[in-house]
Amino acid sequence: MERTFRQQLFFLLLCLSVLKGDLRYVQSNDISKDELYSELRRETADVFMFRRPLRCVDMVAVEGQFTFTAESPQLSCAAFFMAEPNEVISVEYDRVDIDCSGGDFITVFDGWVMKGEKFPSSQDHPLPLYERYVDYCDSGSVRNNVRSSQNVAVVFFRIHSAGSSFTLTVKKHINPFPCNVISQSPEGSYTMVIPQQHRNCSFSIIYPVAIDISEFSLGRRNFPKRSLPGCVESGDYVQLLGGNGIDTSKLLPITDLCISFTGPTHMKIGCENTVVRMVSSGNFVSRVSFSYRLLNNQELQTIKLNNVEDFCFNN
Ligand SMILES: *[C@@H]1O[C@H](CO)[C@@H](O)[C@H](O)[C@H]1NC(C)=O
Repeated sequence: MERTFRQQLFFLLLCLSVLKGDLRYVQSNDISKDELYSELRRETADVFMFRRPLRCVDMVAVEGQFTFTAESPQLSCAAFFMAEPNEVISVEYDRVDIDCSGGDFITVFDGWVMKGEKFPSSQDHPLPLYERYVDYCDSGSVRNNVRSSQNVAVVFFRIHSAGSSFTLTVKKHINPFPCNVISQSPEGSYTMVIPQQHRNCSFSIIYPVAIDISEFSLGRRNFPKRSLPGCVESGDYVQLLGGNGIDTSKLLPITDLCISFTGPTHMKIGCENTVVRMVSSGNFVSRVSFSYRLLNNQELQTIKLNNVEDFCFNN
């Protein structure tokens, strides 16, 4: 069905280019059918590219081409981009008309920054902090395409003169080994896997949620279930964290899950941000599965009244 539609579309485009008198592909003998099709595919992709203006403060969860045009000086702008958990984001500059020497800038940040805090935290990101900022004015001609390490990225920009503008193309790409993720929605389910890598991964849900840890395995299938002094000593564990910022290194621990874990696997967390963080020694394949849903007002009220149990309402 879809295939036929695509073929019809290719045919239509072919007809159109013939009608336009644009016969460069058809007449040339040394162009192969594959090349013809890839050219048509490119054109079809272009026809279907989503386009819209970018706002000074914006949130974008779709691929497309985004144009910002300053109608007045805009000194503090940020566009937040987001993809599915198993995707990363690329930002490509199509056309940039800004005054770098006059103090304008466009900077892509590998992650999100909110209220001065970063996700992923500096502790958990593979790159040092300074490499996570890629400024167009410093590197524009060299790096036309910036790719994020996880499903979120932000573009900061400052433009002093009215009429200056730029156009970005934002695309999503499959990430076979997602590590750090910000959930797109307040409900869903997810399985986090760290395949024998010495790294830590966080799944952040920026909503107060009820969360159910349905399964976790820290790679010691044949290991006798003896009680360990604590999770941290075991080297491989899952942390449940909560707080009101996005930097996971500043969140407070709610509970740790490891081989000796016997606590509840269903929890209601009234924080603005709830994080499942897995610490991996690299010796095992670690895995945790969980599902989550938004807390309703009544549940939030109950947590608020019972604030001994929940620190997110203490401040
Ligand atoms: C993972 O996190 C633990 C505890 O927060 C830390 O001690 C360890 O150094 C981290 N590992 C890596 C590879 O960042």
